Amino acid sequence: MPPSFVSEPVRVRVPATSANLGPGFDALGLALTLYDDVAAWVAPTGCRVEISGEGAGELPTGDDHLVVRAMRAAFDALGGQPPGLVVEAVNRIPQARGLGSSSAAIVAGVTLARALVVDGAARLDDAAVLRLAAELEGHPDNVAPCLLGGATIAWSDPDGGARAVRLPVAPEVRPTVLIPEERGLTAVARAALPATVPHADATRNAGRAALLVHALTTDPALLLPATEDRLHQPYRATGMPATAAVVNELRAADVAAVVSGAGPTVLALTPVPDGLLPGIGWTAQRLAIDVAGARVDRGRLGHAERDPVAAGRKS
Ligand code: HSE
Repeated sequence: MPPSFVSEPVRVRVPATSANLGPGFDALGLALTLYDDVAAWVAPTGCRVEISGEGAGELPTGDDHLVVRAMRAAFDALGGQPPGLVVEAVNRIPQARGLGSSSAAIVAGVTLARALVVDGAARLDDAAVLRLAAELEGHPDNVAPCLLGGATIAWSDPDGGARAVRLPVAPEVRPTVLIPEERGLTAVARAALPATVPHADATRNAGRAALLVHALTTDPALLLPATEDRLHQPYRATGMPATAAVVNELRAADVAAVVSGAGPTVLALTPVPDGLLPGIGWTAQRLAIDVAGARVDRGRLGHAERDPVAAGRKS
């Protein structure tokens, strides 16, 4: 049965996310209190995207926009496309920095499309939303915390479908993101990884990833050893030397710092003393952990959704 569409606009607030958290490559992720707000509604014809904030004047404003591509994929899964679409985005998540901007766009698109279909939740349940979002992104470790909030462990079932569980995070875990001006491409960072790794490194990472679950949930005093990585950060360091230097400097000072996702942002899970904040060319944001994940509501973006400060970003 082709879907019936909701006549009112719908909106969603989607959090930035940091993937890997050191040893949890393609598995662990954390949602942060920095958000994109996106609204969409069905129009009689065409496709129009209005963007303000990050990516304005740079991102495509039609069918090529990632939110729209995700909506199209979701509408296919929901049984059919609407006649036309309007999307309005207020972006605060920096693009191409390792803070999950593409996952946020994908999760926004899939959840908005579902909300625009009258019986959308029956046609595409939460598990299917995660599977579709992870398939569109290519790995599940950003879309999982973006959808669920908090810290997540994501994995793929043998049929390839993504699944995830949410971890309760100890209040002592206090994220700071250190964002460089330079950008990075996940595809380039993934191409830097070797096809095989030494068994000793894999062994060490497995232990650290297991310890990280304990440190995040129960004993944050162990975050420094728990965030050690041998599987991706060393191979990517030459492509982002400034990031690698900041991570090394912070870790030498006992701050549990890692590369955020595929970089080049640095994520610290324990407080960064002011004297250790990198200077010119970097923006530091002390954030909290978003516990709600993607939040869908009715109506267009209002004053609250357009306020840059309320959404976690310093203006
Ligand atoms: N796990 C992915 C990677 C995250 O490191 O390539 C990309 O955001």
